[in-house]
Amino acid sequence: MKKIGVLVTGGAGYIGSHVVVELIEEGFGVVILDNFENAESDVPQRLERIVGDEIRVVRGDVRNGTLVAETLKKSGIDIVVHLAGKKAVGESFSKPLDYYDANVGGAISLLEAMQSSNKPALVFSSSATVYAPSDRMLLSESADLGPINPYGRSKLMIEEIVSDAVISGDLTSAITLRYFNPVGAHPSAMIGEQPSNASNNLFPFIAQTAAGWRERVRVFGDDYPTPDGTGVRDYIHVVDLARGHVAAIRHLMGRSPQGKHSKVNLGTGTGYSVKEAIDAFSQACGFEVPHDIVGRRPGDVSTCVADPRLAAETLGWRAEMSLERMCCDHWAFQRTLRDRRPDDRV
Ligand SMILES: NC(=O)c1ccc[n+]([C@@H]2O[C@H](COP(=O)([O-])OP(=O)(O)OC[C@H]3O[C@@H](n4cnc5c(N)ncnc54)[C@H](O)[C@@H]3O)[C@@H](O)[C@H]2O)c1
Repeated sequence: MKKIGVLVTGGAGYIGSHVVVELIEEGFGVVILDNFENAESDVPQRLERIVGDEIRVVRGDVRNGTLVAETLKKSGIDIVVHLAGKKAVGESFSKPLDYYDANVGGAISLLEAMQSSNKPALVFSSSATVYAPSDRMLLSESADLGPINPYGRSKLMIEEIVSDAVISGDLTSAITLRYFNPVGAHPSAMIGEQPSNASNNLFPFIAQTAAGWRERVRVFGDDYPTPDGTGVRDYIHVVDLARGHVAAIRHLMGRSPQGKHSKVNLGTGTGYSVKEAIDAFSQACGFEVPHDIVGRRPGDVSTCVADPRLAAETLGWRAEMSLERMCCDHWAFQRTLRDRRPDDRV
């Protein structure tokens, strides 16, 4: 029997590589499309070692419509999971056009290619950054939208483009997944997040500091209205997140009638403060990760935690892994990076 074909754009990246593993383990036929601008070239080999099978990789840019259309047709793709794009909030302020080109331009080019093939369904990677800053305890999908940076705006633009394409019939069906804060790594420690200077995220900073690549973690503000004064975020293990994609695909396949674009949060519903995250990571690595409290960072909100109920109700999915597990797996992967690249500094 022919396997259900899934194209994973950005499948060599941090989240995409974990999505690929979960899809293959669930019996899907996977093709990766990635230009490797933010992925190590041997990720496909590492993935093959994890799943014990060959993986098809197309090296190229999602903005290359001809290549994407050819890949969709040749590989008999039924579903596209679109993760390829740029993701650093800070960098999006200094290079907004690059962000709109890669993210919005990439999505348009992909949708055109999908329209010209057998119109596969779409799972799109969006982000909690599409929500307006808010004091609500939990952010549900109906919370006010209002991204405050070019990266978040590029994600919201794509969500709207996808909705219009579904309404017009150019796209048959779509699910947008709004990720909260993916952290951790595959338990094999063979894939995980690559260090990047552009990242604003807390976990890479903590892990790189623990590895000696940075001197200290800077904690931006301890005067927020939270229990210990530091910002609270919803961290989700990347393997849990990847399993959310499998649930979304199963939901799309069972969906009748077609012609709908759902937007669903992928988070745990539990928030941890920056201090709690540093303490948990320190426990995982067995020594205290050095950190300093500095002033607030413009654009940060005090709390950002998902209301995860819609994902449970519609996709039958919920996150399962603890903060401790996230820290242990993240640290195990960071140690492999340190061993492979002992002279790295960020
Ligand atoms: N990591 C997070 O905290 C987070 C949070 C919310 C949403 N997201 C979204 O999830 C998706 C994946 O994020 P990630 O953390 O895995 O990032 P990543 O940078 O590790 O992965 C992105 C992958 O896409 C590839 N890529 C980039 N531009 C491309 C292009 N034009 N054509 C083909 N390939 C291209 C990169 O080489 C990389 O392998 C992104 O769309 C990101 O915006 C990430």
